[in-house]
Amino acid sequence: MAHIIAPSLLAADFTELRSAVQLVDESQAQWLHLDVMDGVFVPNISFGPAIIKAIRPLTKKVFDTHLMIVDPDRYITAFKEAGADLLTVHEEACTHLHRTVQAIKAARMKAGVSLNPHTPIGSLEDIIADLDLVLIMSVNPGFGGQKFIENTYSKLDRLRDLRAQKGSNALIEVDGGVGAVNYRNLVEHGADVLVAGNSVFGTDDPMAAISALLK
Ligand code: DX5
Ligand code: ZN
Repeated sequence: MAHIIAPSLLAADFTELRSAVQLVDESQAQWLHLDVMDGVFVPNISFGPAIIKAIRPLTKKVFDTHLMIVDPDRYITAFKEAGADLLTVHEEACTHLHRTVQAIKAARMKAGVSLNPHTPIGSLEDIIADLDLVLIMSVNPGFGGQKFIENTYSKLDRLRDLRAQKGSNALIEVDGGVGAVNYRNLVEHGADVLVAGNSVFGTDDPMAAISALLK
């Protein structure tokens, strides 16, 4: 399977959200990555369901929604109603992760779990068979434009082993500091989905940047 590119709207010009979404819609990117931050789980605050709902009519691309919020169970229905296709929660933010994953699926969305750079792959051992996606943070979440953490490669190798061992079909997504210099290596280490913020919207030609990440 060819890998998927998920441009992150966080890196777009917020005064021009419509054109950013339209650009992704017309591009070869298959998903749009939406970073929701609450100022508690991460130091930054971004946007929530109202913005997602507002841009939903602009594209049919998969809304890959990354919740960097505490106690995400409170908002599952709100994100479903806003038009999220896939809801990813952080392992570190969920006391009853199994229950949260089941609630996302019951709301008829795909369910993902994200791990911060310090969280071991082993924490997914008893949940990976239930997941549609695992999101590996290759920076500490909260901000775009950070430096890629090299330990991510060995983490991906261990995740691929665990996925096979547990018979899981979860896609593997990598988020943070992904761009032209490392995308091939990440795909070789098993990444199915690459999030790209600044390496797309921070360039003069985001459309060409997306195409380049698919080569
Ligand atoms: C970081 C977010 C990322 C971010 C990636 O907390 O989860 O999705 O937008 O941005 P870049 O690609 O610029 O590192
Ligand atoms: Zn993200």
